[in-house]
Amino acid sequence: MGTTKEVRSEKLLAQPLPLDPAFENPAGILDLIRAGSPYKTLAAVHKNKEDKSGGWFRNFWALGGKVIFDGAEPYFYNQKFIEAAKKSFQAEIIRPVAMMTNLNLPAPGAPYHLDLPFFRGAQNREVPSWMLAPMGYSGLFHEWAIPVASAITWFYEGVGGEFEYWPNGLDHPSLTESPPYSNRCVLADNEYMYHRVGAIGPADQQKDHDDIGYDALLELDTDDRWQVKEKGKTIADFDFGQVRISILWKAYCFKNEAMAASYDDHSHDLTPQMVADIFCEDLKRRGIPFKEPGPFESDLESKKTITTIYSAPTGGASY
Ligand SMILES: [Fe+2]
Repeated sequence: MGTTKEVRSEKLLAQPLPLDPAFENPAGILDLIRAGSPYKTLAAVHKNKEDKSGGWFRNFWALGGKVIFDGAEPYFYNQKFIEAAKKSFQAEIIRPVAMMTNLNLPAPGAPYHLDLPFFRGAQNREVPSWMLAPMGYSGLFHEWAIPVASAITWFYEGVGGEFEYWPNGLDHPSLTESPPYSNRCVLADNEYMYHRVGAIGPADQQKDHDDIGYDALLELDTDDRWQVKEKGKTIADFDFGQVRISILWKAYCFKNEAMAASYDDHSHDLTPQMVADIFCEDLKRRGIPFKEPGPFESDLESKKTITTIYSAPTGGASY
């Protein structure tokens, strides 16, 4: 029997599972998408003042294991996702943790990345939010990583907007799921599996949307068209089908009761001091000049070192 320290393997644990159809009632999903209007920018939802909107809007249907958007219950507890997560992650206990929408305007493709990881003892702002991505990319915190199944379901029948993913690592060929999408999903290990979204829309419609500010709203009008509004004024508008919609569901996947219990009783949690020590030890081992960090919230030098050294690889094989 494994100990509770063996939280997950160092390499990709779970193979992706395509699901088609994803939801039993896709019309209900589109009703909820319409009911969620107006949408805030991703930057505003996550209170990242410095981030550009990139023409990306979101709302949450569930957070912290609880449904927060009326009508989302049947989708959050989608049995198909739960069964797929059990199979893919070889886990007995699946706990849905979050569900959110993504509404993307026509835009250039995004670089490959890993999703923000979840670590035992670092989930409630015990460490600053900028630190989570480097913790994931560093590979130094596998032992505390919580296996998370991500099911992304797409509704988009336009041009581009493919989902490209590397289930066997960046040095192996990628797989691609391409539109038309209607209620199609891939459940995967997106904290460990590199993935990206391709350019959305025809080339002449793709924009960086730098003009869309933090407080902009994406609002559906009575003609079922999306209006981007800022200070009450419409600054852009799109047909319903021009906006790429995806629904992201995340669930913790515990191998067995013992794993879930050690998560619940915090007997195998990181502390901020452990995080600092692990980073420092690795930097020292690698001969990278590094000052002992001060308080993470105010120590901008440590932030720069950590975010620069531990980031997504660039120049990886591009298949
Ligand atoms: Fe992602």
